[in-house]
Amino acid sequence: MVPPLRRSSRRAARLRYHHYADRAAGLRASEVRALFAVASRPEVVSLAGGMPFVAALPQELVINAMDSVMRQQGPVALQYGSGQGVPVLREQILEVMALEGIRAHADDVVVTTGSQHALELVSKLFLDPGDVVLSEGPSYVTAMVIFKSYQAEVDHVPMDEHGLIPEALRQHIVRLKAAGKTIKFLYTIPNFHNPAGVTLSWERRVEILEIARQNDILVLEDNPYGLLYFDQPAPDAMRSLEQEGVVYLGTFSKTLAPGFRVGWALAPHAIREKLVLANEAAVLSPSSFSQLVISEYLATADWKGQINTFRGVYHERKNALLGALEEYLPELTWTNPNGGFYVWVTLPGGLDSKAMLPRAVKELVAYTPGTAFFADGDGRQNMRLSFCYPTPGNIRIGVRRLATVIRDELDLLETFAGTGSLDPLRESARFGSPPPETA
Ligand SMILES: Cc1ncc(COP(=O)(O)O)c(C=O)c1O
Repeated sequence: MVPPLRRSSRRAARLRYHHYADRAAGLRASEVRALFAVASRPEVVSLAGGMPFVAALPQELVINAMDSVMRQQGPVALQYGSGQGVPVLREQILEVMALEGIRAHADDVVVTTGSQHALELVSKLFLDPGDVVLSEGPSYVTAMVIFKSYQAEVDHVPMDEHGLIPEALRQHIVRLKAAGKTIKFLYTIPNFHNPAGVTLSWERRVEILEIARQNDILVLEDNPYGLLYFDQPAPDAMRSLEQEGVVYLGTFSKTLAPGFRVGWALAPHAIREKLVLANEAAVLSPSSFSQLVISEYLATADWKGQINTFRGVYHERKNALLGALEEYLPELTWTNPNGGFYVWVTLPGGLDSKAMLPRAVKELVAYTPGTAFFADGDGRQNMRLSFCYPTPGNIRIGVRRLATVIRDELDLLETFAGTGSLDPLRESARFGSPPPETA
């Protein structure tokens, strides 16, 4: 049992709280974070987290790379390095990005501690309190945590099965400008979106870049999943079309392993200089050891073949998830991703994914409620299901358990319908039905 907090330490905690900067208010535990603790219990099938299935990476490949780095350049690997990242790795990153149509110069690549840190650095450079970040609705939860920690407002632009809707983007920009707001950038995940699973069409990439250009809005293109496609590659990156107005973020977390904590930003020249300064101020230099091991891996291992292996694993799991949804929960609707880790599910009207979560965990299945992915509390009628980590067999078990929970909820709703005991949701499911702007 946790001992009760003594009065003096309670007072100390209160005092310390009063000393927090205003921006600390934005740092709250997200639903995803809280879930990791519960969902990591072995008996729970977790369809909640976005952990890559690193067991599909032969450990020998990493051990060999580490061994040769330590034998050949041990003192360099163990030393501080450049704030911009190891030059040879930055050259190799160009090869990785070329797979998605990007031509760039290694001088404009800044290696970061995962792309999460690149998000932090870009936010630090651009966001003042009260600024607006446009993003898809729903959007990546931990990016929103960062934007909010810089006291920016997140304005969600609706999407459909082809990604962000350009006409809605135009309308949001007009409305925000009329309200005197300063829009700093558009944060977008064009490929195999987290959490929506959809991919932005080529035509829309062109149109959205044009809108951003016209309105002098920077585009922050976050692309962790682009190379993890199933049947067909995603369209080329937005950065392949536009250099000056796009900061592109990449990472080795999903195509190799997140434990290295190595990602990067490719930025227009002027921004790149500031990014390096911000990187140095934050971490002095990204890990030399991780960078050199990845560089060695890229130089000696069949890294493209390994990405193919990952694609196969995730494709099989996506099929398992969609197959199980069709079998056990045909009354739901969901997106059909052509890559990545996630499926976005819309529940029947009246169900509340957030309220239902504790009952699901009791039935030993976890998911992420849709509300985690909206800055404004929307998304109750949605949930994100991740197929990246559990085996196909466990995915089926998880969906079967989820079906039991949903059936029970629907029974309850029916029983109490009209009694006022359960308040059906008034809002329509986000991105399950056409957004109001385009309906
Ligand atoms: C959309 C998106 N951006 C960024 C990240 C952070 O990745 P990294 O491990 O490179 O920091 C993730 C991780 O899940 C993500 O889904």
